[in-house]
Amino acid sequence: MPEKVLITRKIPDAGLQLLEGFDITILSESPPERGELLEAVRGAAGILSTVTETVDAELMDAAGDDLKVVANMAVGYDNVDLGDANERGVVVTNTPEVLNETTADTAFMLLLAAARRLGEAERLLRSGGWEAWGPMQLTGPDVWGKTLGVVGFGRIGQAVARRARGFDMDLVYHDQYQNEEAERELGARYLGLDELLQKSDFVSIHTPLTPETTHLIGAEELGLMQPTAVLVNSSRGPVVDEAALADALKGGSIFAAGLDVYEEEPEVHPKLLGLENVVLAPHIGSASIETRDKMAVLAAENLAAVLRGEEPKTPVDA
Ligand code: DGY
Repeated sequence: MPEKVLITRKIPDAGLQLLEGFDITILSESPPERGELLEAVRGAAGILSTVTETVDAELMDAAGDDLKVVANMAVGYDNVDLGDANERGVVVTNTPEVLNETTADTAFMLLLAAARRLGEAERLLRSGGWEAWGPMQLTGPDVWGKTLGVVGFGRIGQAVARRARGFDMDLVYHDQYQNEEAERELGARYLGLDELLQKSDFVSIHTPLTPETTHLIGAEELGLMQPTAVLVNSSRGPVVDEAALADALKGGSIFAAGLDVYEEEPEVHPKLLGLENVVLAPHIGSASIETRDKMAVLAAENLAAVLRGEEPKTPVDA
């Protein structure tokens, strides 16, 4: 009897093809209702999940004793209760590396769009309100030659730093650990978080979501930034206190922000929705065709490896 595999969302065919031979259930394109998920997971040996599903004790209980692997199609795995999975001997895997460059592109896109007011400009044009070229119309700060502060200097943060070098930017970074090799390679300087926030013209966040990074950027930290500064978050929403950010943007204590992630996705803080100086994207950091194929393939390979009794390529460390 082939083992049962639950794929919680429709994923690219490149990944699906690798799971032929298992007894596959694929839920719909949109996020499943919790009840549907709990029902569909019964008897599953493998779950291929995405960031929209909470994989917790309740879900793993519902799967039952056959469950061996949760393959999350994302680099982040804050939606999975890793401790609980470990206790049950369920392997958890993620999809690192394959999305670094694409996610860094998204961060840089948001940075440029927020600085140069692209969202506001497009809204003006589409509304029919654009009357003529204007000497001071829709001006924003230059990006090139400025200082970029990267918070979280892992693989994606470093990929953003590489892009910034092409814009002749000065690079500073903050992380739990100093990385001298990356400093040499990228010409970046390590700073404490407060100093980074004070000195940077642009701040881009790339930390995982953990209890320590929840609301890492709140009212106090935003208050340290320059009134001309731009904040970009493409990591996880709860790293930034959205209400505090909305107040900072409204009060002019920073110039603009670019966000791809939110505290309560798909909800966006209503105060942010009403502001012109924030560019809002719907969690599309890794959403290139090529990268989503690679993520689906890696998640499927990980899942299949565990079910075949082999080592998965990218297990999440316990
Ligand atoms: C990730 O991989 O963690 C992203 O947020 C989902 O694309």
